[in-house]
Amino acid sequence: MNILVTGGAGYIGSHTVRALIAGEHRVIVLDNLSRGHTAAARGALLVRGDTSDTGLLAELFKKHKIEAVMHFAASSQVGESVREPSGYYHNNVVKGLALLDAMVQAGVPYLVFSSTAAVYGEPEEVPISEEHPTLPTNPYGATKLALESAMRWYGDAYGLRFTSLRYFNAAGADPAGDIGEDHTPETHLIPLVLQVALGNRPHLEVFGSDYPTPDGTCVRDYIHVNDLAAAHVLALDKMASGARSNIYNLGNGSGYSVLEVIKAAEEVTAKPVKVKYGARRPGDPAVLVAGSQKIRDELGWEPCFAGLHTIVDTAWRWHLGHPAGYEERNER
Ligand code: UFG
Repeated sequence: MNILVTGGAGYIGSHTVRALIAGEHRVIVLDNLSRGHTAAARGALLVRGDTSDTGLLAELFKKHKIEAVMHFAASSQVGESVREPSGYYHNNVVKGLALLDAMVQAGVPYLVFSSTAAVYGEPEEVPISEEHPTLPTNPYGATKLALESAMRWYGDAYGLRFTSLRYFNAAGADPAGDIGEDHTPETHLIPLVLQVALGNRPHLEVFGSDYPTPDGTCVRDYIHVNDLAAAHVLALDKMASGARSNIYNLGNGSGYSVLEVIKAAEEVTAKPVKVKYGARRPGDPAVLVAGSQKIRDELGWEPCFAGLHTIVDTAWRWHLGHPAGYEERNER
């Protein structure tokens, strides 16, 4: 198929682009490069632009006979979203709606949407199933939920078919080692821990050690980015063969604490990771673990990189080869 991938130069987008190309799809990446990296989108045609540019979208849909969209382009930091909700509503909702409208206008039928566990808010129970109430506790989750809701109504009224994938903690890198996680600023646990192992940071601050968990630190469900990418391809194939719109969680179903992640990183890298204990980070639930049975049952998805050590090992390969990331910051 001919597929437009918005945000295809970003972390999860670029890994999905690679999976699509391996599946012999033709990929056009639309990315404004505010966070993405040109080198990450290699193998695809990269168009620098924004989903708010509906003229550009119409042109790309027509010129490249686009049959499906995967929509990754978004702002994705929980803390930043609390401080700057306006930017999140504009980037994630206003620009997302512009994309949906352009798709409807051009008759592009299928959308795979990058959603998040943050739509659930503080969990009432774990593992969290797709039936869990959606009560986001930050604008990031709220904006992703808002677009999911719009997609439903657009589906009913205009026939748009969508699959929304609610990721838990995306981590790791393609084992080839040439694409990986490079955010500025970096806020995610695994890259931060590996930056300490590399000697690029003096220590890792553990946010809270008094949670009601076995070792007192937060527990998360880490899922390899290539397993996320594979789920996007499966979701598209399923819709193209007639499946209705759907929403799926994506996680491994096992939780690891912050201290377990640090220990795994020390074992993988054979370097010590210095730790300082700090206060809880506002808005962090104690435990977030996915119930992913639905996507296993309905799409036949199975993680290939399920173990924490494997995930950390692939991330480490990327960091070792690219200690300063993509080194393209001059492009912004
Ligand atoms: N952590 C630290 N120190 C750090 C960074 C993180 O202790 O320097 C801890 C956090 O408190 C948390 C865990 O490591 O307990 C993981 O934190 P991340 O920032 O890597 O990931 P989050 O769980 O906060 O965020 C993820 C996704 C978001 C999504 C959220 C859902 O990255 O997109 O889950 O709550 F919104």
